[in-house]
Amino acid sequence: MNFQWYPGHMTKAKRQMQEDIKLIDLVIELVDARIPLSSRNPDIDELGKNKYRLILMNKADLADPKATEEWSAFFRGKGYYVVSLDARRKVGMKSITDKIMEACREKIERDRKRGIKNRPVRAMVVGIPNVGKSTFINSYAGKACAKTGNKPGVTKGKQWIRLSKEVELLDTPGILWPKFEDQAVGLRLALIGSIKDEILNIDELAIELIRFLKMSYAGILAERYAVDESRELPDILCEIAENRKCISKGGELDYSKAAALLIDEFRSGRLGRITLESVKNDKQ
Ligand code: G4P
Repeated sequence: MNFQWYPGHMTKAKRQMQEDIKLIDLVIELVDARIPLSSRNPDIDELGKNKYRLILMNKADLADPKATEEWSAFFRGKGYYVVSLDARRKVGMKSITDKIMEACREKIERDRKRGIKNRPVRAMVVGIPNVGKSTFINSYAGKACAKTGNKPGVTKGKQWIRLSKEVELLDTPGILWPKFEDQAVGLRLALIGSIKDEILNIDELAIELIRFLKMSYAGILAERYAVDESRELPDILCEIAENRKCISKGGELDYSKAAALLIDEFRSGRLGRITLESVKNDKQ
């Protein structure tokens, strides 16, 4: 997905979000479990104040399970409800409705006391591009979603997907804009593949990934590519090119090919389950 945020886009997205948020009780915010901070936009805290909050740590299948636990505890400590999730394979989906009810129990209790019965909790999904919002809505809403979508002439206005007696979901997710102010954030977004207009070229991205892995996941490169991790970063990339036979047409070593291979294996999880941010080093 190609995207570039300009002030105009941002203002439009923000305005839309402000409108939609008025209609709901609960904000379901998706983050990428590999970069739980860099895949958030903290503006959602202001936009979603006075709303119940659930954070879904999505793509948990690609993230380091220990780090996901630590980040979940971190967010819980800040008052959010949290579920870790693989929306693509629907792992973790079962507990979501329970968590929604738990997060909104105050409202449910208030309704009950006022004698209001069967008023469902209304929720909307938000997140930066590519975190898995559509995948999640499809996985969670399943048939209910397809049903509304297939009715001709009902696309105008807000569509609510009735998930159960208890929960209704706004069918279009809110798009948050990534925050690029910090270079490290941009780098991490590029590494997970959220920014296809790279802010760095692929060779530089690979070097940065090697730097990180050497430090935080020692042994992973040695094991997969039979490289000597004690060498300089460009030499390690060179060794990957040699060992994986990344050769250009002219018969020379092709570093960019090796860089692309490394990034691709990281993004697809073939390198292992890796989280790029740690609670200890990166929490704000
Ligand atoms: P968005 O609406 O937030 O922009 O994200 P979307 O659902 O389009 O998902 C972006 C990509 O992330 C998709 O891959 C999707 O399959 C993948 N994805 C979503 N949730 C998960 C998850 O929990 N685990 C993993 N591993 N991947 C997930 P894609 O390559 O763009 O499309 P496709 O190859 O799946 O068709």
